[in-house]
Amino acid sequence: METQANSGSTSNSKNRKILVTSALPYANGSIHIGHLVEYIQTDTWVRFQKMQGHECYYVCADDAHGTAIMLRAQSEGITPEQLISDTSDEHQVDFKDFAVNFDNYHSTHSPENRFFSETIYNRLNDAGHISKHTISQAYDPEKEMFLPDRFIKGECPKCGAEDQYGDNCEACGATYSTTELKNAVSVVSGAKPIEKDSEHYFFKLPDFEAILKDWTASGHLQDEIKNKLQEWFEAGLQEWDISRDAPYFGFEIPNAPGKFFYVWLDAPIGYIASFKNLCDKKGIDFDSFWEADSQTELYHFIGKDIVYFHGLFWPAILHGSGFRTPTAIFSHGFLTVEGKKMSKSRGTFIKARTYLNELNPEHLRYYFSAKLGSGVTDLDLNLEDFRLRVNSDLVGKVVNIASRCAGFVKKKFNSTLSDTISEPELFAKFADASEPIAEHYEKREFSKAIREIMALADLANQYIDEKKPWQAIKEEGREQEVHDVCSMGLNLFRQLMIYLSPVLPLMAEKTCDFLNIDSMQWSDIQTPLTGHKIKKFKPLMMRVEKDKVQAIIDASKEELQTAEKKETAKKQETPEEKTAPIASESDLSHIQADPISDTISFDDFAKIDLRIAKIIKAEHVEKADKLLHLTLDLGGETRNVFAGIKSAYAPEDLEGKLTVMVANLAPRKMRFGVSEGMVLAAGPGGEDLWILNPEGDQSNGAQPGMKVK
Ligand code: MSP
Ligand code: ZN
Repeated sequence: METQANSGSTSNSKNRKILVTSALPYANGSIHIGHLVEYIQTDTWVRFQKMQGHECYYVCADDAHGTAIMLRAQSEGITPEQLISDTSDEHQVDFKDFAVNFDNYHSTHSPENRFFSETIYNRLNDAGHISKHTISQAYDPEKEMFLPDRFIKGECPKCGAEDQYGDNCEACGATYSTTELKNAVSVVSGAKPIEKDSEHYFFKLPDFEAILKDWTASGHLQDEIKNKLQEWFEAGLQEWDISRDAPYFGFEIPNAPGKFFYVWLDAPIGYIASFKNLCDKKGIDFDSFWEADSQTELYHFIGKDIVYFHGLFWPAILHGSGFRTPTAIFSHGFLTVEGKKMSKSRGTFIKARTYLNELNPEHLRYYFSAKLGSGVTDLDLNLEDFRLRVNSDLVGKVVNIASRCAGFVKKKFNSTLSDTISEPELFAKFADASEPIAEHYEKREFSKAIREIMALADLANQYIDEKKPWQAIKEEGREQEVHDVCSMGLNLFRQLMIYLSPVLPLMAEKTCDFLNIDSMQWSDIQTPLTGHKIKKFKPLMMRVEKDKVQAIIDASKEELQTAEKKETAKKQETPEEKTAPIASESDLSHIQADPISDTISFDDFAKIDLRIAKIIKAEHVEKADKLLHLTLDLGGETRNVFAGIKSAYAPEDLEGKLTVMVANLAPRKMRFGVSEGMVLAAGPGGEDLWILNPEGDQSNGAQPGMKVK
């Protein structure tokens, strides 16, 4: 069975066996919200697969080797083993608190990984896929070690900017080799680097060109990635340097004293090692997942920056050493904050823990999901959009349904739901959404899944608005109706939470507790809860408060100041193979924009003509449930507007008030007449809807016709 990276069409097949990985985070730094895009995306997908009843395992590990980790441990005066053990603990707590639920979390510095790295290397070597060449490299004569590019600084040969890294200039963007850098120094010791020869081991990637071209063309990759690989093929495949000289923190290469596997050789093998470790604990059949002709599915979720490793080296290495190749590589774009790269000085380089200190992890899980698609386009965390979106969707729509219904069921009906479903058609409408929503999850089109789910949440709220149980309960003889409406509302809420549980597992757990049920499976969507006793409703989720968001930014800035003092050469060596970001705007033009949260340009915004308007007349509209007919004065000009605010306002409340309107909206012909603009209102709906009213302070001098800025 083969799942295509783009079309992903196995959602109907039963009994799937699936192994899923996320990229292994480096063991020399904390998890930040950029990383979390990937772990949240993967975790959500895995939870969805498990809810479908598939046998699915999610493994990961810390990427623990390399120069950066070795040097960082030295600068902290601890062993690398101590450093990676501490980091692993920190990472695992962060992941757990974000409800990222690995079946196994291991380390590349493990016996299993040593075993598989050696096995794979020996097999490649035996088959003639390893070569040796002597190369010349920058060397620190004081520290007696070869220097990766990131550990050399000097003046840019092009523009003369000081303090630039060995491979590229941040001031003018030039790329060059370390030998061209002027007045170069070793970041480690301050010494002037010399050139020194050494023998290196290479993986002969060109041996696999035909196989890779074939693999690339057969549906294992997203289109954007496939195109990128095509470019790399055209540029010509090169042998890959897989050895590093001592001192190096890693595994020594068999029969090559003083030579170590380059961190990127044993890192992906860590996927195999972590899974093996799980199999040994759980008695899972390892071979059935990794043998060359495996019938199981294997997916790697990665960021677009590490495609070269996963799209070329990795399948070639696996193929060359007799293992199965991945079913698909799923790569995602990068997180930006407020439209820009995460930045320490702006306080947008936010660590997982800094976020957790202030806010609910599921706020972020929801926001990312609401913006994630299957492509490699970058996604932006706009903090105000984040706050509004979470508050309006999760608190204002979803939780609101439960909180509006739960009280009556408890107080008036002994906490027990009605014996029947009063609106079977509405229930069926929710259940029928199961297939399209599942399809979206399967294809990693989470934003589309969320859009469908929120449209259902709107329907549920509309239903309750129309039935107004809070009014009916005051009238005699309508008890049964209230019981039915609230029971119906809670059933709709349960259906929504089943759909949302891959994204919001913690809230789903609380929901199970509140509804007094053991679990929520995907198939439960078809069966209502009737005559069932529920428990006391407790608030399922709090709003995102503005000051909490600010606190995260402030704390991130502070961390920078503390960290800057300690900062030395801790950065992970940047592999020379790292490639430029893949996504360019034009590549991605086919990706559908999310209509709710995508930003508009300032020019777009400037087109909207907002004006203060005085409501001179407000009237009911015959046969319209929601509309009021407003006559607005725009400082001389009058406009007719039909506004959907009847649920919140009586006409007499409005006459004489000021409000804000969109004055340049094209007139729209409605069933009741032509509407010549729109008034702005805010709130979840129903009675809770407020028109914007600029006259809070009469002395402010707001006048009809004034432009709103
Ligand atoms: N150690 C390597 C991966 C080895 S996999 C065999 C590595 N580690 S990392 O810590 O730098 O990144 C881990 C994952 O997080 C990568 O897939 C990377 O693309 C992703 N992200 C890191 N920063 C990110 C953003 N700002 N946005 C989205 N994903 C990001 O690479
Ligand atoms: Zn320069």
